Amino acid sequence: MEQVLYLVLFILLTLGSVSDGSHFRGGIISWRPLNNTVQGTTVQVLLHQRYFWWRLFSGFGGYLCTENDVALGTSINVGSAYLTCLKNCSSSSTFPPSPGILALMTTSDCDTNPIIQSWGGELYTTLTLPLTTSITIGYVGSAWLTALYIGGGLGWSIVNRMNLAPRPDYYINSSPVTTTLPVVMYQRGVPVVHVVQMADNDATDVLQCRWGTNQTTTNYNQISECGDVCKAMPPGTGLTASNCTLTFTLPKAAIYYACALQIEDYYSASSPNPMSSVPIQFLFYAYNISAGACATVPSIIGVRPNRACIGVPANVPLTETVEIQTYCPGQTIIDLVTSSPYGMRHSNITNPSPGLWIMTLTWTPLTTQSGPQGFCAGAIDNSSLQSAPWCITYLVGYDSPNLILPVLVQGSASPIGTVFSNQSLFSIQATSAVGRPSRNGTNVCFHLDTTNASVLCYDAGYSPNVIYTGYTIVIVTTLTWTPGQSYYVTMDNGFASGSVFCHAESLAITDKTFWRFDIWNPALSSTTTTTTTPPTTHTVTSLGTTTTSINTACTTSGIVVTSTNASTTTTTASTTPPTTAAPTTAGPTTTGVTTESTIPVFYPLDFENACKQPVAIMSAIAMVFFMPVHALAMYAAFTKFTNMYKPSNIAAKTRHKQRMQNILRR
Ligand SMILES: *[C@@H]1O[C@H](CO)[C@@H](O)[C@H](O)[C@H]1NC(C)=O
Ligand SMILES: *[C@@H]1O[C@H](CO)[C@@H](O)[C@H](O)[C@H]1NC(C)=O
Ligand SMILES: *[C@@H]1O[C@H](CO)[C@@H](O)[C@H](O)[C@H]1NC(C)=O
Ligand SMILES: *[C@@H]1O[C@H](CO)[C@@H](O)[C@H](O)[C@H]1NC(C)=O
Ligand SMILES: *[C@@H]1O[C@H](CO)[C@@H](O)[C@H](O)[C@H]1NC(C)=O
Ligand SMILES: *[C@@H]1O[C@H](CO)[C@@H](O)[C@H](O)[C@H]1NC(C)=O
Ligand SMILES: *[C@@H]1O[C@H](CO)[C@@H](O)[C@H](O)[C@H]1NC(C)=O
Ligand SMILES: *[C@@H]1O[C@H](CO)[C@@H](O)[C@H](O)[C@H]1NC(C)=O
Ligand SMILES: *[C@@H]1O[C@H](CO)[C@@H](O)[C@H](O)[C@H]1NC(C)=O
Ligand SMILES: *[C@@H]1O[C@H](CO)[C@@H](O)[C@H](O)[C@H]1NC(C)=O
Ligand SMILES: *[C@@H]1O[C@H](CO)[C@@H](O)[C@H](O)[C@H]1NC(C)=O
Repeated sequence: MEQVLYLVLFILLTLGSVSDGSHFRGGIISWRPLNNTVQGTTVQVLLHQRYFWWRLFSGFGGYLCTENDVALGTSINVGSAYLTCLKNCSSSSTFPPSPGILALMTTSDCDTNPIIQSWGGELYTTLTLPLTTSITIGYVGSAWLTALYIGGGLGWSIVNRMNLAPRPDYYINSSPVTTTLPVVMYQRGVPVVHVVQMADNDATDVLQCRWGTNQTTTNYNQISECGDVCKAMPPGTGLTASNCTLTFTLPKAAIYYACALQIEDYYSASSPNPMSSVPIQFLFYAYNISAGACATVPSIIGVRPNRACIGVPANVPLTETVEIQTYCPGQTIIDLVTSSPYGMRHSNITNPSPGLWIMTLTWTPLTTQSGPQGFCAGAIDNSSLQSAPWCITYLVGYDSPNLILPVLVQGSASPIGTVFSNQSLFSIQATSAVGRPSRNGTNVCFHLDTTNASVLCYDAGYSPNVIYTGYTIVIVTTLTWTPGQSYYVTMDNGFASGSVFCHAESLAITDKTFWRFDIWNPALSSTTTTTTTPPTTHTVTSLGTTTTSINTACTTSGIVVTSTNASTTTTTASTTPPTTAAPTTAGPTTTGVTTESTIPVFYPLDFENACKQPVAIMSAIAMVFFMPVHALAMYAAFTKFTNMYKPSNIAAKTRHKQRMQNILRR
């Protein structure tokens, strides 16, 4: 069987070398099941191929791509090019038999820069395959670009391992995903640290990155993974497997260097074999720095931060702005090398103000593009200086979490209103489960209202003072607030990140009215009322049945604005127990006629004393009957951290735990 395949392959290669030319410039092959739950004996797999070609290759019939081909979605015709099954093919009865899948890429990027000259495209294929599938697939051909340091004009091989056997956790594996610019430019003779991005939909997988090899007997793919560009990087090139970081010095200018890597996912650090193997092959280019070159390479400064992940709906047009900064007079951005999802249009580069350059991307993601879609860009100036790559991921078909606008009383953020100067717990809720951002440099800042000065910032990327739990983010502060002042909170892009895949990010909150609070001024308040506005009441109708008056003067912090006594300790409020849904288990909270209802959510606890009646009733009932699940999580989280950071609350903790159990049991 395999011999036949080899024969076919051989014939194809022979034929291929007639129509192909020296034009291959790398690519990526990855895949994922459309649904990773095992159902029956087959699974639908979405296979993704992306290849880069040399734009000037004569095999295109003298045709040179332009941005217009991106708009039209032109197919890149490189002759009879096929992705085929290469090993153990009998395990996958339904994988398209020889010649395989026609590798006709849809144009996604066309780069007319004289150095880059790259034509990139991608193709998605949905396959229905048996769960027994354990095959090596790949695209083998001739030839690589001629101007290579090693391997120029020789054969390519780009292969991927697809194993659909259920994982130890009974899901079907997804391969790692990665992205790159087609050509990454560095100065000759300068030590370089280059990070290749890698990620995995199965968040707990351990990713390792290694060189592609020709050792067909020992490598996981059992076939040449890199053809003639194995070890094509300069001698002494280092690779750190765990973070896919390359270190090297390019020795020769005006030439390209092929880099061929395999990214593999292990179920755990102790697993002997990976579950899949994703190839990534691309080029480095070395240049001699020219006399007038700027000392600083351009940088892409946003609008989105590098490595951002943004949830976007399908079929809705989006525009994204790439902002580039230059640092010398006369330094001009002449090109932006890109690797894009297909259909994404790239505008001409504009220069609205000195030192600032802008390209606008417009894209309507299709339903068929659901899932992660990477975009990478690198800006090149008139001296061939290239910025560091800037890559963002769109999660098509997912919504990013958004922070919920805090409202007074029973709100989604706590505290708002008036708080003590020793207030140290702050929490806010998002519209979906959230986690820590994957990047450092995502700050939450507390600002003084009068001057806008930030008095306290935490980097949510790693700060232990920012805690993510369920739908809730808790911030533990260590500052004594100044009495009588007002503060507001700002949050960077991605402060709340979704829990799916690359953690789609919340939008930044910069509005100073979004979340603000005042610090109780004991001097002012003890002079019995006068200065503050009298409390107003308004009516909240809940569940259509209970109507309760809410005292809006009782803020979430629990301090009545006009209160003269705000120094009492843990107390209880008496409320009539709810008439319905008595728990079946004996608990101290709901058996009696009057019952204790501690509300540790609203710290400090003086809340209950200060505005005992209406709100307390509302709270108790609300908690039990119509608090959404996420509010409960917030409640639980808040209590947890109150207790964690305020050990004096231990007595209340036990009592509270019991209450929570009762609430959750319903
Ligand atoms: C995957 O299939 C399972 C079982 O049919 C189903 O419950 C689940 O909703 C599916 N997931 C998605 C994302 O379609
Ligand atoms: C070939 O496929 C079978 C069935 O999935 C699998 O058990 C076996 O390990 C595979 N062999 C190789 C060499 O990949
Ligand atoms: C790797 O193997 C391929 C195919 O067997 C061969 O054409 C190529 O020359 C080999 N490359 C190296 C660097 O040995
Ligand atoms: C990659 O890992 C190595 C070894 O742990 C470390 O020295 C290096 O700083 C890491 N690189 C990056 C970019 O994180
Ligand atoms: C680059 O600079 C080196 C050292 O000055 C020189 O030897 C080499 O010829 C230059 N290469 C090109 C292409 O300019
Ligand atoms: C290219 O950039 C340099 C500064 O980086 C500038 O001095 C020079 O004039 C620019 N050349 C052209 C042709 O724009
Ligand atoms: C972009 O620039 C090219 C060449 O300068 C020009 O032909 C084209 O009209 C421009 N496109 C837009 C949308 O301005
Ligand atoms: C973020 O910063 C912290 C502290 O400086 C550091 O320990 C951590 O490795 C950084 N993480 C990333 C992803 O850079
Ligand atoms: C604070 O920021 C707001 C809007 O961001 C601005 O209107 C106001 O002038 C700023 N105040 C000071 C003192 O800078
Ligand atoms: C204030 O506290 C004192 C002592 O704790 C108490 O006697 C008094 O009634 C309180 N006043 C109000 C308005 O709650
Ligand atoms: C915060 O300050 C209030 C009023 O001064 C005091 O009653 C309360 O015990 C303090 N809380 C903590 C945790 O120190």
